[in-house]
Amino acid sequence: MSSRRPGFYNLSLEERQQQLDPDGLLSAEELDALTASPGLTVGQADHMIENVVGLHTLPLGIGLNFMVNGRDVLVPMAVEEPSVVAGASFMAKLARAGGGFTAHTSEPQMIGQMQLLEVDDPATARLKILEQKGQLLAEAAEIDPILKKLGGGPRDLEVRIFEDSPIGAFLVLHLIYDVRDAMGANAVNTACERLAPIVEEITGGRVHLRILSNLADRRVARARCTIPLSELAFGDFNAEEVRDGIIEAWAFAAVDPYRAATHNKGIMNGVDAVVIVTGNDWRAVEAGAHAYAARSGQYTALSTWSKDAEGNLVGSLEMPLAVGTVGGATKVHPTARAALKLMGVESAMQLAEIIVSVGLAQNLAALRALATEGIQRGHMGLHARQVAVAAGAEGDDIARLAQQLVKEKKVRIDRAEEILKEWRNQ
Ligand code: MEV
Repeated sequence: MSSRRPGFYNLSLEERQQQLDPDGLLSAEELDALTASPGLTVGQADHMIENVVGLHTLPLGIGLNFMVNGRDVLVPMAVEEPSVVAGASFMAKLARAGGGFTAHTSEPQMIGQMQLLEVDDPATARLKILEQKGQLLAEAAEIDPILKKLGGGPRDLEVRIFEDSPIGAFLVLHLIYDVRDAMGANAVNTACERLAPIVEEITGGRVHLRILSNLADRRVARARCTIPLSELAFGDFNAEEVRDGIIEAWAFAAVDPYRAATHNKGIMNGVDAVVIVTGNDWRAVEAGAHAYAARSGQYTALSTWSKDAEGNLVGSLEMPLAVGTVGGATKVHPTARAALKLMGVESAMQLAEIIVSVGLAQNLAALRALATEGIQRGHMGLHARQVAVAAGAEGDDIARLAQQLVKEKKVRIDRAEEILKEWRNQ
């Protein structure tokens, strides 16, 4: 299966749908879940959340050209913003010329927190808990026999003391829990709730909150890529200029939180699109990413860009990625299931490796545009199509009107309506 699809962009919607899966990896039903709208029925949605009255859908595009750890992968992306899918696909093509993305993850360990209040002597309480660590971990291991069978389960217990909080001193326990292919919130929260009474018995204190931490800094995904210098020149820009411009743009984000927030938002454009399409919890991933970006005490860029000894552009991205391939919406939502199948994903770790690679590609797309012609040029073509549709254009008129708006440098609804009126009067 190749993720290279030259000309895919120029095909009609129907042709793209037909050519999505030439190797027949998906069943007719799965293909339908990706291409026919909506993949989820209102009846299925009714079992997912409360007070359901309908569905809210997003465009689903395919990120092309991705090669992650030597394997080609077509990446489904659900996102409302123009340029995201095109940007990721184009940068994946550049990265491909340098061997694609190399990605790996740590073990899928989540952190469950227990807030322990009302202990007389925090230091002694800490020691008492640590003395009973074996018993507590053994108890936690019995909670989820399926996870245990799959090789997951509790790994460690840590105790932290906060001396000076607004309510005085208290302890926080961290239960480190390997959740394998699950996102893990349920497993971790259940384990914390189960351990709480035992912790209270050991310490004489009161366990207040019992909940997982979204700062999943033990479940980190990393990707790197090398863009050959020769791939960077375009238009009037020479390769060195583009490379150095990207590094300069990254340096801005490295030192300035105002810029870092936008820089990381660009990364999340790609990350969230895959997190969403696979039915994962994008708020958890967002929270983890930004907390991780601030872990030194100063909020900074999640990625790095530099040049290697040969002058090629080298990028890396490291971020927590608490995503699952089992449980929750990943199993219930037909589009999420089909998306995982299309990517040939067999584990949560493998999914995280793809997502972090997409994030890095997306970051490069933004920096390359910002460091050269500016973001609006690329954005405008696609934005113009949305404006054309909003103005009432249909069929072939959409592309024609969009082109006209870009040519006039007036990508505005009033002008679009005016042109449409002129055409209709002719
Ligand atoms: C827009 O959605 C994302 C960018 O602002 C990211 C960036 O500035 O790096 C273009």
